[in-house]
Amino acid sequence: MNIEQFRFQFPSLREKHHAYDAIYLDGPAGTQVPHQVIEAISQYYQTSNANSHGYFVSSERTDDLLERTRSKVAAFLGAEGGQCISFGQNMTTLNFSLSKALLRTMSPGDEIIISALDHESNRGPWITLKENGIIIREIKLLPNGTLDYEDYESKLSDRTRLVCVGYASNIFGTVNDITRIREGCQRVGARLLVDAVHYAPHFKIDVKEVDCDFLLCSAYKFYGPHVGLLYCRPGLLDTLNTDQLRTQSPKAPYKIETGTLNHAAIAGVEAAIDFIASWGDGEDLPSKLSDSMHQIHLHEMEVFAALYDGLAALPGVTIYGLPADTPDRAPTLSFRVVGHSPQAVCQHLGQYGICAWDGHFYAIRSMEVFDLLKEGGVTRMGIVGYNTAAEVDRTLEVLSKFL
Ligand SMILES: Cc1ncc(COP(=O)(O)O)c(C=O)c1O
Repeated sequence: MNIEQFRFQFPSLREKHHAYDAIYLDGPAGTQVPHQVIEAISQYYQTSNANSHGYFVSSERTDDLLERTRSKVAAFLGAEGGQCISFGQNMTTLNFSLSKALLRTMSPGDEIIISALDHESNRGPWITLKENGIIIREIKLLPNGTLDYEDYESKLSDRTRLVCVGYASNIFGTVNDITRIREGCQRVGARLLVDAVHYAPHFKIDVKEVDCDFLLCSAYKFYGPHVGLLYCRPGLLDTLNTDQLRTQSPKAPYKIETGTLNHAAIAGVEAAIDFIASWGDGEDLPSKLSDSMHQIHLHEMEVFAALYDGLAALPGVTIYGLPADTPDRAPTLSFRVVGHSPQAVCQHLGQYGICAWDGHFYAIRSMEVFDLLKEGGVTRMGIVGYNTAAEVDRTLEVLSKFL
């Protein structure tokens, strides 16, 4: 992958913040978008702006766009086809809708397993079901930022109906052992729901290999706009009783899509997937996407290793989570610096045009477990396809002067 050409596609990478070249290390909170995505959104408004299912050109174009994008998202996720893909406002809203629908398949005393590592969006929607007598069990977190799989296995029971876990942690970059988690589900006949929001920008997903019932992600984390994406195993959504209007299609994938979708943003989702595919070789969209995601990941991990090693060498810095060279790791890290709050670190970086986040990033339970919440959480930095070793060098220089 030619990194300079890749970067050139992103107009915001040429922005100055306080007279400095902007450096976006805030990818885990949302990536920048390439001009292809910006243009697709604007084109939609120029040529296709309409509601769906009308007998006129702009409406027909909108219908085509929605179905085409479902197929492209299916290719992105390795899904059986567009009929398995639903759109939503964001991942959290889709997960709340799913939790209401799945509750209708459960009885008081049934159990759901969540994890201490997950983003609140994959905990809160399930925790609220306690009000209906559902028992929530939480997989413990080990000090190295990985899940305690023995604890998970001890919590599986013949009442476990659902296991909800993340694919990758948005705070430590840990990639969870989904195979082991799925094997546990299969032993007790529970459904598996995977939050792939943090995984999707860094690895090619293959839902058939993951063999999950539900998988969610969000396009704004992989160079697209704010649209939530839901994969349901073929036929499964049709069996669920989702909240819906009598005027709405009762079929999958539409039955969970309440109200009018953000068509223009969905045009941006299509463009984001095409953009990713354009960096890979292959005969068809899935193979181009696989190749491209592989190239992006290799580049990310090289830049990430420099960031991790550079930070680790700075005095007073503690990095949380697994080492940089851990196989199957997402290029995201969190750290603290002795004597400086995460907020102060980010404020200082921000003055030099470096975008990094402080706090808990909604992975608030892990910060509670690590006892870091009251001290302002951690500073988080993430590498995505457009970040470079030169950006890392500048960040380390700015940070080392501050320290
Ligand atoms: C791992 C993870 N899961 C879920 C979410 C929530 O996604 P959304 O903003 O689309 O609701 C986020 C957002 O940061 C995330 O990082």
